Amino acid sequence: MELADKRILLGISGGIAAYKSAELVRRLKDQGADVRVVMTRSAKEFITPLTLQAVSGHPVADSLLDPAAEAGMGHIELAKWADLVLIAPASANLMARMAAGMGDELLTTLCLATPAPVALAPAMNQQMYRNPATQANLATLASRGILLWGPDSGSQACGDVGPGRMLDPLELVQRCALQLQGPQPLAGLHLLLTAGPTREALDPVRFISNHSSGKMGFALARAAAEMGARVTLVSGPVNLPTPTGVTRIDVESAQQMHDAVHAAVADSQIFIGCAAVADYRAAAISPQKIKKTADNEELVLTLVKNPDIIASVGALPNKPFTVGFAAETVDVEQYALGKLQRKRLDMIAANDVSRAGQGFNSDDNALTVFWPGGSQELPLADKLSIARHLLTLVVEHYQCDHRGRP
Ligand code: C5P
Repeated sequence: MELADKRILLGISGGIAAYKSAELVRRLKDQGADVRVVMTRSAKEFITPLTLQAVSGHPVADSLLDPAAEAGMGHIELAKWADLVLIAPASANLMARMAAGMGDELLTTLCLATPAPVALAPAMNQQMYRNPATQANLATLASRGILLWGPDSGSQACGDVGPGRMLDPLELVQRCALQLQGPQPLAGLHLLLTAGPTREALDPVRFISNHSSGKMGFALARAAAEMGARVTLVSGPVNLPTPTGVTRIDVESAQQMHDAVHAAVADSQIFIGCAAVADYRAAAISPQKIKKTADNEELVLTLVKNPDIIASVGALPNKPFTVGFAAETVDVEQYALGKLQRKRLDMIAANDVSRAGQGFNSDDNALTVFWPGGSQELPLADKLSIARHLLTLVVEHYQCDHRGRP
């Protein structure tokens, strides 16, 4: 529950995207947030207060001059109650009123009165969004520290295509969680990691590869970005979206992955090798498709060793804090500790890929993490939780290693 005990004041202004606000309240509450809703007059033309009362579990506030409402949680109390004010959708008109510092109804007054961060999720027609008046208002609000989340670009309710779509409710929930989490433990650090399989070409249409889905590496990239790191993700061919805020470099072969890592490693403080790199590649890639022939029952391929990417990082004179993975089926601890030493790693995360429901291609994982002189079990959980847990260990040990260093 990423928003447990967080108090979010959700402002809704008048726009067609207001129909998504009920879903947004549900998703915020799924993550443990206490949500109170404030609507502008025109918002009520698009969605009823009754709907939002039902999903939030609290009456909707909409009037500045309602003695009954002020006798309950008055507007100043409401402004002080919030940990975060999120206005979604934020219309062009609402942003103009905020930029002018108006307190002409409850929502604008709350924005003036709250000590909490205020975030806007703009939503409007693309021409209205591009209008210089709207852009000037956005710039004014940004210069005052108002957070601007979105808008997205794409097809709009009115049939236009362009910028002005409200961010998806799940994306907004994620932004709230990032905004409200405590000090970011990886802030100021550059984390470089590899993920996914590599493909080693045999001819123009065939390759050798493996079953790695990239899910663990992508979960690590997402978790590291959420913990404040600048993240560079060197990824083999996978079918996964790039996590928010992560710089992704796509590669195919082990050699390309090696080169991309070495182009970025010099200014990184942490390197995680999560990719399932093919150990061997074809000695020669056939320029034409290899043909099956009537008289050949066997085909012999000559393979040569690929560079060991993580070992080459471990051998650098100013190596980053280096974390490897060991996917094993037997004697997990013994092989993991061997790799820790041989590849000059600071930490290794071992998983038993012979167990059902964890490791390759699965959504869950369990790891045993080893470092020189210690170890810890991370029991079976979804890969994002495992990633956060592993990064917490990385932070502790990185800080230990660097204590006292300039
Ligand atoms: O030796 P093994 O392949 O089991 O080691 C696994 C670890 O080494 C992983 O962290 C993997 O990303 C890394 N590795 C690598 N380059 C290779 C082979 C493995 O970086 N060629």
